[in-house]
Amino acid sequence: MSSKKDIITVAIDSPAAAGAGTQAKLISNEFDLFYLDTGKIYRLIGMLYIQNKRKINYNLIKKKIKRINFKDLKDRKLLNDNVAIAASIIAKDKRIRTIIKNLQRNFAYNPPKKFKGSVLDGRDITSVIMKKATFKFYITANVRIRAQRRYLEYKKLKRNISFNEVLKSIKKRDYLDKNRTISPLKKTKDSILINTSKLSKKACFKKIKAIMDKKIYN
Ligand code: C5P
Repeated sequence: MSSKKDIITVAIDSPAAAGAGTQAKLISNEFDLFYLDTGKIYRLIGMLYIQNKRKINYNLIKKKIKRINFKDLKDRKLLNDNVAIAASIIAKDKRIRTIIKNLQRNFAYNPPKKFKGSVLDGRDITSVIMKKATFKFYITANVRIRAQRRYLEYKKLKRNISFNEVLKSIKKRDYLDKNRTISPLKKTKDSILINTSKLSKKACFKKIKAIMDKKIYN
């Protein structure tokens, strides 16, 4: 895919609830980049799958993606745990991944004009969607720490779910995402590993910003 010259492109992959979204938002604000949370697209299709009695309807999915609007991605129902699990189930499907690929690449390499580039996070961003990104990060953290953070988020959203259920769900999604045949989650050789287990959001961002500043301003 051709891209605008001189834009900054940032690709981030991470297992569930590792803090990639938070860092992606901070990066987008700091460097004036367009942010796309690709997990939300899979969650939207996951929700469609639940609503369609757990049957995959490619025509319906194509229509939804064609008319996608950013309001759809802000639906708070997308944050539900059953939607997250459904997303990782439909994410194994090759045809579904192909339907979404161009949409993601278009935002990655041709972001809206007012931005200086783009930042995308997901599971196959460094390995498939943005192989040529200026920066590639793999953000991870210990699974119990990730579960604890997600559990606190659910509590804030008043979702009725226990810590053990959250832990189980995250482990299930990690397993599905890392072991699927098509576009599995993995750290590419050229991605910088950031482990957030012992880092605050601020400390983590400081690290990322230092890496980016060095390359951009040198
Ligand atoms: O990032 P988030 O947890 O919202 O993603 C939900 C699910 O969508 C993931 O567990 C994964 O199965 C799928 N996904 C994917 N590829 C992406 C983004 C998300 O397979 N690029």
